[in-house]
Formats: sequence, structure tokens, C-alpha cells
Amino acid sequence: MCGIVGYIGKGDGAPAVIDGLKRLEYRGYDSWGIAVSESDKIKFHKQVGKIGGFELKRDLPDFGGSICIGHTRWATHGGVTEKNSHPHFSCDKKIAVVHNGIVENYQELRKELESKGHKFVSQTDTEVIAHLLEENLKHKKSKKDAVLKTLREIEGSYALGIIFAGEEILFGARKGSPLVLGVGKQEFYLGSDVPAFLKHTNKVVFLDEFQMVEISGGNYEVSDVNSGKAAKVKETKIEWDLDEAEKGGHPHFMIKEMLEQPTVIEKTISISEEELSPAVKMIEKAKNIYVVACGTALHAGIYGSYLFALENGVMMQPISAGEFPHFGSLLKKGDLVITVSQSGETADVLEAVKSAHKSGAKVLALVNVMGSSLMRAADYSLLTKAGPEICVLSTKAYVSQQAMFAMLSGALKGKVSATKKLLLKVKDDVSSILSESSRKNIAKMAKKLAKVDNIYALGRGINYSNALESCLKIKEVSYIHAEGFGGGDLKHGPIALIEKDVPVLVFAANDGVDKEIVSNAMEVKARGAEVIGISYQNNEVFEQYLPANDHGLLTPIASIVYSQLMAYYIALEKNLDPDKPRNLAKSVTVK
Ligand code: F6R
Repeated sequence: MCGIVGYIGKGDGAPAVIDGLKRLEYRGYDSWGIAVSESDKIKFHKQVGKIGGFELKRDLPDFGGSICIGHTRWATHGGVTEKNSHPHFSCDKKIAVVHNGIVENYQELRKELESKGHKFVSQTDTEVIAHLLEENLKHKKSKKDAVLKTLREIEGSYALGIIFAGEEILFGARKGSPLVLGVGKQEFYLGSDVPAFLKHTNKVVFLDEFQMVEISGGNYEVSDVNSGKAAKVKETKIEWDLDEAEKGGHPHFMIKEMLEQPTVIEKTISISEEELSPAVKMIEKAKNIYVVACGTALHAGIYGSYLFALENGVMMQPISAGEFPHFGSLLKKGDLVITVSQSGETADVLEAVKSAHKSGAKVLALVNVMGSSLMRAADYSLLTKAGPEICVLSTKAYVSQQAMFAMLSGALKGKVSATKKLLLKVKDDVSSILSESSRKNIAKMAKKLAKVDNIYALGRGINYSNALESCLKIKEVSYIHAEGFGGGDLKHGPIALIEKDVPVLVFAANDGVDKEIVSNAMEVKARGAEVIGISYQNNEVFEQYLPANDHGLLTPIASIVYSQLMAYYIALEKNLDPDKPRNLAKSVTVK
């Protein structure tokens, strides 16, 4: 949900900021903008649309400066227009602000500022920050004090980059939205996410909630916004390499990230028994366990809850983080909330963590981004190690989350190395599903699938989550209506949707309920559906069959890859950009 980038140093910041924005485009791509501080003014450029095709040298050859901020937008307040795109400015145009988050009290602030003579040019909540800062600067001795006062007056969430005309200074601040400081050699970067500046430095400081950073004179100082006092911070070295955050010759991040899945599984399962042990203890001790996450991560959580029930007899209740506020107050001391998140920045998940802690419950996180808000808020975290996921659609993160649940479940029954061995076999299957011949086959199937209006998927038990996830992938990337159902739910309504030639994906594993799911396949076939079986064995009911080797309850970790590929090739068939589906942004940092 919006990405911000900042640069201050000896060099020209504009190329680094433009490059950073391109890397953060997955966070929002309806418009973008950039500003640099010059001796007496702020120079800027704003544009509606994606930044992807923009070339600084070609399109804006004279634009540059050593203090620079930029923003790629996912609109919340105000339509997609040049005026509403960031940076936003004070009346005198001497202050420029980029913002990710929502100023909840912007209407009150705007009214007050207008009564003092401030003129607003956009419909955004962000613009109040620039005007409020301009107002506060009239009464405060230093820029730092004025920024602090402004931050204390804003309600809601923010990651901010702020520059001033003619001043060699860059401010960053965060509350509720992520912001990372990159520390280079006499050069500093701000980014909503590490890939924004990973090309230049892997030394980072993850700003904490309600912290501000002031960078000037070749140094930086982080302060606590409430007290205004300097805060102690830790510089962390990020292990991700740049290749992981680049397309590496692939046409899209989506295919690149899907192809990384065998390696990702290896990385995820490299976790040791010692690292798993505190999480196992939390599960053993818990009175009630809830799995809270959103979207794809929730589907991984559903997979985990079935796995724990079927393998260990442990009940975990999956709840969408968006709906969790209705249950949060019922948590008690001794309960455990397991959160699952790729970004570790999803607002609803972070809210759930807060309410869990309020009730005295513990929080265990399965999270991909090191240093993320979730990782810092949780009582214990397991890093899923999928590496940077840039495509808006989650693919490799899902598989890593499933694999981590498998490791955790294996650890609970004392079978870590046996689980690892099994997961290595799953990994081999993922490799063959991703092989060129298999991809060609799916691409061929996609030609036909791209023409339909509806696609359904059925799964039972351990495959229920895959039925849901496969349809989420298909609908978000191809805009085809797709819905996944539990096989048992079919006759309670969804079967009314089945008509001649509608494709139905049927997931089956050797798990004791495969006969029932095959019966469900028969039921839809009898009503004209074209059944595509993703199963450990073929069956006459399947019009088309995609083999998913039998790994018992771990089978779905490989079989989901078929539907990820299906979604990708359907999107290509429809000439859609699989990396940036309409209306979607990665990291949903607003509620
Ligand atoms: C779907 C997708 C989303 C995310 C969801 C949670 O492809 O990517 O459904 O899974 O927004 O995001 P994280 O995992 O970052 O909390």
C-alpha cells in the first residue's frame, strides 16, 4: 500500500530513488512522484500510471539532486490524479512529504489549517502533514522539534520521508507502516522495504514504532517521537541478495518466484530443532490456539490447522485477521495466536497481535520478512525464508508457510528429520511440476481456461486449503470468477452453479477422504462439469489429469503449484500483467 523511498548523500539521488520506486511498485502502482531539494526550491515530477517504463535519462534528463524522496501510490484518499500523487507540499513549496499510511484526523487538521490560511491543492490526507509542519515550523526553534510536534499531532499510521528546500537534511518516521533506513558509505536511504535500496547497501536499521530518523552531515540519529530523545538502534546485515529481488531474465516476477519454490522449500526446512523448540513449547502449553492471517497466508494457516489436527490431534481455529476483532476480546491468558504473514506488515494481522497481547495471550509468528513489524511484535517468530516476494500474488511464500507448518507439526511429534526427508521429496515433485514440459502442458490447458467465465475447485480435509488458494490465485490474476469449496459443502448450495463445460479442479491426496472427493467429482461431472484432477492417482472421472505424487498430508504443498502455474498462464493468455493485478497491492497496511 504505497511505497516510499528517500536518498541523502554525496551523489545524485534521483536514479537511486527511481530504481527504488520501481522495486516497490508492488506496493502500489496507480501513480508516482519524486522530489529533490535545490538551493531555494523543491523540484518535483509527478505522473499517473506505473513507473515501470519510465527512464530518468530519457524522460527527465535534467532531473537530479543529492537529497531526494519518491513515492509510488495505491490510492486511498482522493482519486488517481497527478494532483493527488505524492510528494505533497506546504503552501510555500519549501517542504515536500511522501507518505504511506492514513492520517485519520486529517479532516479536523485540514479545517484548522485552512482557518489559518493554508491552501490545499489535493484531496489527500497526506497534504495536511506538509501544511501542519509548515505551521509548526513557525513556532519551533529547530526542524527536528517541528517534525516531532507534527508527528505527535497526526493520528493514524505513517511511514514518511520529508525534505526541505535548500537544506541538507532528510527526515523519516514510522508508525504503523514500515520504514527501513539503509546505511551506505556517506549515503543513506529510506525505503518501505529493503529491496528499495538493497542494490546499494545491505546494512539496515528497521525503524521501530513511533521513531523518527534525522539524517544530515553524513550521520543519522534515531529519536523516539514521544520523548524526543535519541533511541538506541541496531544495524542489521540483510542476507537476501539482489538477484532474489530482480527478475533474472524471467519475463515476470511471478514465474521467477514460482520457479524458486524448490530452493525455498530447502531454505525453509533448514530450520533446526532448537529453533523450532520454543514454538513447539508454546503450542504444547496453549489452552486454545487460533491461526490468524489474511488471504493466501490464511490459506496456509488453514492447511496448518488441518495438518495439526490430522497429525497431532491438536485443534487450531483459523480466523481471518480482518474478522478477528470480533473475537479478540474473548482470548484469555494461556491462549496462543499463531499469525502467518509474508510481509509481516499486514495491518489486520498487527491489530490481532495487539488484541492478543492485551488479553494476555501469546503470539507465535510465521513470517517471511526479517525485522518486520510482526516479527518484532510477536513473542516468538519462525522465519519462513522465502526471500523477497515482489509479485503481488503470493506463491513461494505460501509454499514456504505450508512447509513451515509441516516442520512445526513434525517437531511436535518429535519427527523433525523424518519430516525434512519427506519435504525434500515434496521439493523434487515441485521441481518436476515446474519443469519445462509440465509448464508447456499447463500453458496449453490455460488457452482453454482463459475463455471461461467461472472456474471452481474442490478439496476435502488436507486439500481444502488448496481448493481455496487455487481459486484465489486464478481470480486475482485473471479476473475470472473462481471459487473453492469443501467437497462436503457442494450439496449445500454450490452445486447449483455447475453447468455444462464449467472447469472444476479436484484436489485429491491419499488421505482417506479421496473416495469422497472422487464422488464429488462424479457429482459435478454428471451435471456437465469438466473435471481436472490433481491427484496422486488417475481416475476415469478426470477429463484431464495432473499427477501429484503421494506424500500423505504433505501432498498439497506440491499440488498447489499446478494451480499457481494455471493462474499465471491464464493471465498471459488474457494479456494481463501477472505481477500487478488491478486494484491490488502487496502489503495491505491499511485496515
Ligand atoms: C494473494 C496475496 C494476499 C496476501 C495477504 C496477506 O496472492 O498475496 O492474499 O497473502 O494480503 O499478506 P501477508 O502475507 O503479507 O500478511
